[in-house]
Amino acid sequence: MKIGILKETQKGEKRVAISPNIAKQLIEKGFEILVEDGAGEASQFKNSDYEKVGAHIERRGVVFKEADMLVKINPFDEEDLKLVDKRHILMSQFFHKSNPELMKAIAAKGATAFSMDAMPRISRAQDMDVLSSQSNLAGYKAVIKGAYEMTKIFPLMMTAAGTITPSRVLVYGVGVAGLQAIATAKRLGAVVEATDIRLETKEQTESLGAKFITVENEGEDSEDGYAKVASEDYARRQKEAVNKSLFNADLVITTAMVPGRKSPILITEEQVKHMKNGAVIIDLAAAQGGNCELSKMHKPVIKHGVKIIGTTIAPESVSTNASDLYAKNMFNFIMHLTKDNQFKWDFDEEITDKTLIVYKGKIRQNGKTA
Ligand code: NAI
Repeated sequence: MKIGILKETQKGEKRVAISPNIAKQLIEKGFEILVEDGAGEASQFKNSDYEKVGAHIERRGVVFKEADMLVKINPFDEEDLKLVDKRHILMSQFFHKSNPELMKAIAAKGATAFSMDAMPRISRAQDMDVLSSQSNLAGYKAVIKGAYEMTKIFPLMMTAAGTITPSRVLVYGVGVAGLQAIATAKRLGAVVEATDIRLETKEQTESLGAKFITVENEGEDSEDGYAKVASEDYARRQKEAVNKSLFNADLVITTAMVPGRKSPILITEEQVKHMKNGAVIIDLAAAQGGNCELSKMHKPVIKHGVKIIGTTIAPESVSTNASDLYAKNMFNFIMHLTKDNQFKWDFDEEITDKTLIVYKGKIRQNGKTA
């Protein structure tokens, strides 16, 4: 089977779906790899790096024409779809629930599509979960970005000129990104606090040496490991519990999301007014509307002396590692779906069932081929 690696076209995107190292492993398993000319350049992978491991560099049109499977990170766009036909098996993050028109367009082509972001959150799918591998890097980079924007350092420092007290970091949302943000801020020497609607994250927070701010909920906090929408009463109690820490924080990192919903507003403008002058908020939930009322995606806002940066940052800004991890997830996924280089099409198997969104021109409904 031939796998075609496409160059990402989305503005600002620097990653590539398969790195040379993983291309090598796929070739060893018997796959043939075609790489669109320059696909790895922005992640610092040269054409020659792919050629060295036995992949072929081809023009875009040739990759579409020859490959059986086409892989990307961002959803296939209109230009891609012009070249897609019914032979193709497409793999990328389609975010199919928010992109129904795209899924219909793929179905109209008679093609097949797997969505990496639809991976079920079960133990055996952990090594195929691109949302986790990318969020982990996002959590790390959010802290680095925050440190860069701050006018203070993180650690306690005793110098002849006097003692510098450590910075205070507050993390909202202790999922994959939040946990890595906590670990990174701790390593840099900050005093770290965190809160989450899912109380099971208390132990994880404490195991990293941070303080957990508990807000009691009514036991309605999670579904399949994901958070549910918080009640108004919870939001009020959360503010009461967290405000003291928020008003003392030098850096706030927000990562709170509810799948398929707009991000909850956890920091209002009124709260920002009481924050420290010079404090920084890195809002990783900005793409879904943001956790801070004042966030604007990709546009820093300075208000009431606080700098608010709404971003998804990490994956693009650490594209070498992000591509490597995405590729490794993809390798594990392809290995899971195939036997002797051929798809098993085991529809009753949970990972296949949940990620296979379009099969040979038919959109699958609730995990069943319509
Ligand atoms: P996410 O990106 O959906 O949300 C981030 C965090 O925000 C979550 O911890 C959530 O509880 C929290 N949150 C949402 N609304 C909130 C509110 N109003 N106030 C405070 N916090 C709020 O979460 P992510 O990173 O996707 O992880 C969710 C869970 O899934 C975690 O337990 C993670 O360990 C688990 N997971 C399991 C995998 C597997 O088993 N294959 C793979 C990846 C994650």
